[in-house]
Amino acid sequence: MDSSETGRVVVLTGANEGIGYGMLTALVESGYRVAGLDVRGDAIGSLQESNPETVRYYDCDVTVDDDVERAVEAVIDDWDRIDILVNNAAVLNFGFFDEQTSEEMDRVFAVNFFGAVQLIREVLPHMRAQNGGIIHNVSSGAGRVGNPGLTGYAATKGAIESFTRSLRHELRHEPVTCTIMHPRLAATRSANTLGYPASQLSDPDDVGRKLAGKIESTRTVIYADWVTRIGLFVARQVPSLVTRSTERFLTSRER
Ligand SMILES: NC(=O)c1ccc[n+]([C@@H]2O[C@H](COP(=O)([O-])OP(=O)(O)OC[C@H]3O[C@@H](n4cnc5c(N)ncnc54)[C@H](OP(=O)(O)O)[C@@H]3O)[C@@H](O)[C@H]2O)c1
Repeated sequence: MDSSETGRVVVLTGANEGIGYGMLTALVESGYRVAGLDVRGDAIGSLQESNPETVRYYDCDVTVDDDVERAVEAVIDDWDRIDILVNNAAVLNFGFFDEQTSEEMDRVFAVNFFGAVQLIREVLPHMRAQNGGIIHNVSSGAGRVGNPGLTGYAATKGAIESFTRSLRHELRHEPVTCTIMHPRLAATRSANTLGYPASQLSDPDDVGRKLAGKIESTRTVIYADWVTRIGLFVARQVPSLVTRSTERFLTSRER
């Protein structure tokens, strides 16, 4: 779809850096109007200066219901509609289960799961009223196959996948739908803390661009590219590969 003709509006959380920022720039280049919601807005603000008609920064912590309500209202005031929501904001705190506090577990759920749910709660009535909308919830391979040291993070991604599949069923007679988006492993600030070899990490701008290219897709699961799709399929079919590739996390603990 040519977004410049239709003036489609995308709300994108966690848009200030990483894969979200890559999506933001690619969407703007394709003519979308993008509302970037984040706790920091320096990068979105710079892009807004050069693209005042198509980029807006909204200061929003997705764990604060009032922030979410205010940001969604402001987007509707500014642009009258929300065609697509991308729940991309997330936090990742590496740590073994017995070393993490319940507050740390609560925090990762507050951002990665309940933040997304709250955005959907606020945006859905607008999508229904305008008779259309797509909601993309960004997941992770960890949510599919698990990862030592990421019990909380992986659980939030497993939860958002099940939530999305169930909500998708609930919406199946409506003009609004929701999907699960799978990025490829990328060298972002949070992923870099996991110590993957550089050769396994993609450029976040490139991953964001690939996902932006699929922004109008309504498939149940959207993969950034075929490598991500095949990689996740193989990891599910051959669990020993996941055991082997994550062994280094346990070795580092025993040292
Ligand atoms: N990178 C990967 O390899 C990879 C792989 C699979 C899936 N994913 C998923 O892809 C998405 C993007 O990941 P990424 O690696 O690009 O992440 P990132 O670089 O860590 O960026 C996440 C963004 O979300 C923002 N954010 C954090 N807490 C927030 C909150 N409470 N409210 C609003 N914004 C908040 C962050 O702001 P601050 O940093 O200022 O807090 C940051 O701008 C995530 O859903 C992640 O789970 C990533």
